[in-house]
Amino acid sequence: MSNNHPNKTAEEDRTANFYITESYKTIRTNLQFSLAAAEDKKVTAITSYEPNAGKSITTANMAITMAQTGAHVLLIDGDMRNASQHKIFGVTNTNGLSKLLSGLSRPDDTSFFRGVRPNLDLLPAGPTPPNPSELLCSKNMKKLLDALREAYDFIFVDCPPVGVISDTLSLLSNAPNVLIVVRQRQTRHDDIKRSIEKIRAVGGMLLGVVITDVSDSDSPFGGRYGRYGKYGKYGKYGRYGKGDKYSAYTKSGEIHYISNAPSNTQSEVK
Ligand SMILES: Nc1ncnc2c1ncn2[C@@H]1O[C@H](COP(=O)(O)OP(=O)(O)OP(=O)(O)O)[C@@H](O)[C@H]1O
Ligand SMILES: [Mg+2]
Repeated sequence: MSNNHPNKTAEEDRTANFYITESYKTIRTNLQFSLAAAEDKKVTAITSYEPNAGKSITTANMAITMAQTGAHVLLIDGDMRNASQHKIFGVTNTNGLSKLLSGLSRPDDTSFFRGVRPNLDLLPAGPTPPNPSELLCSKNMKKLLDALREAYDFIFVDCPPVGVISDTLSLLSNAPNVLIVVRQRQTRHDDIKRSIEKIRAVGGMLLGVVITDVSDSDSPFGGRYGRYGKYGKYGKYGRYGKGDKYSAYTKSGEIHYISNAPSNTQSEVK
């Protein structure tokens, strides 16, 4: 899964790794600020308007980056129709959220939770149920999240695209905070607007936007990183509303950049 190009020098790879790790750390910091001001300080749902925006990879990297602070983090795969976190972390999907919510297992069965990194547990999605949307807004989901809020410092829920199915909007009745993932050159401007309208219509709380797949020329950190730290494009979507905060750019679609970051960048994370 390494994104390292065979023709790149080791130094270029180190620079890229450093740069990508920094992007996720910026997202983490922004998210910590947003959560500190939110009513629910623990649970964040991640969605996008359209499929394939980079939600799952972004969620996994955010969870890893947050766990590197020493916080106790849970990642829930809330995309029960198109589960992917078990593949990213290489665990089975035989048991998971769908079974806990549908009563096919005891609600307090902690054997479904897999320790995938230091301080990071994963609750896989489980087998696809007939009614994911109903399960996500159910009383069982509320009870589960209430118990998990006691046990973890931060909980991330990888969700389906909000423009395609209603599952994410259903979840928001139990966990209102949302981050929207926007993919450069893919997500349309109107679709960002529609996502925000849908989220607000059900009382969701927009914490921010993460832009993925940003090329060097698009990125404020790009090229020679000359503008690094100035966040030139930061707040680009500011006109969508007061109080919204916008997160950083992520360039890589590769989970291993974070977990394999050079030891000097790992220690910086702490
Ligand atoms: N920041 C990124 N930069 C470049 N490519 C990325 C980025 N994030 C994800 N990708 C790539 O985009 C593809 C889709 O990623 P991912 O599965 O995370 O998207 P998704 O929004 O969860 O998709 P789905 O809607 O199917 O759940 C993958 O091939 C992944 O490697
Ligand atoms: Mg996904």
